[in-house]
Amino acid sequence: MPQVGRLPDLACLLLADAFILFDKGLVTGFDSKGRNVADRLKDKVAIITGGAAGFGEGMARRFAEEGAKIVVADLNAREAERVASEIGNGAIAVTTDVSQRVEFDELVYAAKSAFGRIDIMVNNAGYTHRNGDLVDVEEDVFDLITAVNMKAIYHAARAVVPIMERQGGGSILTTASTAGLRPRPGLTWYNASKGWAITATKSMAVELAPKNIRVNCLCPVAGETGMLEKFMGKDTPEIREKFKASIPLGRFSTPLDIANAALFLVSDEASLITGVAMEVDGGRCI
Ligand SMILES: NC(=O)c1ccc[n+]([C@@H]2O[C@H](COP(=O)([O-])OP(=O)(O)OC[C@H]3O[C@@H](n4cnc5c(N)ncnc54)[C@H](O)[C@@H]3O)[C@@H](O)[C@H]2O)c1
Repeated sequence: MPQVGRLPDLACLLLADAFILFDKGLVTGFDSKGRNVADRLKDKVAIITGGAAGFGEGMARRFAEEGAKIVVADLNAREAERVASEIGNGAIAVTTDVSQRVEFDELVYAAKSAFGRIDIMVNNAGYTHRNGDLVDVEEDVFDLITAVNMKAIYHAARAVVPIMERQGGGSILTTASTAGLRPRPGLTWYNASKGWAITATKSMAVELAPKNIRVNCLCPVAGETGMLEKFMGKDTPEIREKFKASIPLGRFSTPLDIANAALFLVSDEASLITGVAMEVDGGRCI
């Protein structure tokens, strides 16, 4: 136990330690809300699809707080512009339909032109049918689910892998879902598309590891975003309670929950982690 008279010395030692950590770049300071900002993505360039709302907007904001240059890619031009301008620090918005190869190529061109490189590719845009009988889902809806949740991952890989390889590495992250691990009835074709995304993640990870490209995915549990109403079928207090009752920690996910997990996976702190499907689910998949 330190004696009372020694406390000032102890405080000096702690301050000196803190200064050494600061000096080594291990602690860089605090943001305006008092949170530790470690510059974990300093100077990295990140493309985030579906970045204009929900989980994607959360990631765009969180990555920017940690020093990344952000490309907000979304079908919704106005909201993408809003997010990019609120983030500032040179963030750009690119109107993109991820289901279209040519638009993906234009997105990558815009990112390279603005920032000169691409370090992080987040495949986050998603689409679902409304909760209901699997035989009632129309073919055009099924096709859009496969185009946005599956084929876009292929488009992204073909567009960014050669760039990342030339740069010496990179990180690809997909927003999959607990739906791909522990499916609920009523969302069969959506669930299956997320299962595909998880398998694609693992296969890409093992194939791209020699190029130093890490590939991971997140499996969020239901979250209060634009898609929740379709997942539930109808938004009523009873259905909300039913969904929450299946989550041991007893709440929906938030964009910040998902963004914090994403931040870890795309940062250098996760440099030995590839091929994981990380549940961010309050215990839903146990
Ligand atoms: N919200 C949940 O409960 C939940 C749970 C697990 C996984 N997910 C997944 O999270 C991801 C993000 O969804 P969210 O919940 O934040 O929903 P959201 O509706 O808030 O955001 C989705 C964004 O994707 C954009 N988008 C849709 N289709 C697009 C396309 N073809 N090209 C470009 N952008 C497109 C939309 O404009 C929107 O801005 C999706 O992949 C979804 O499947 C959501």
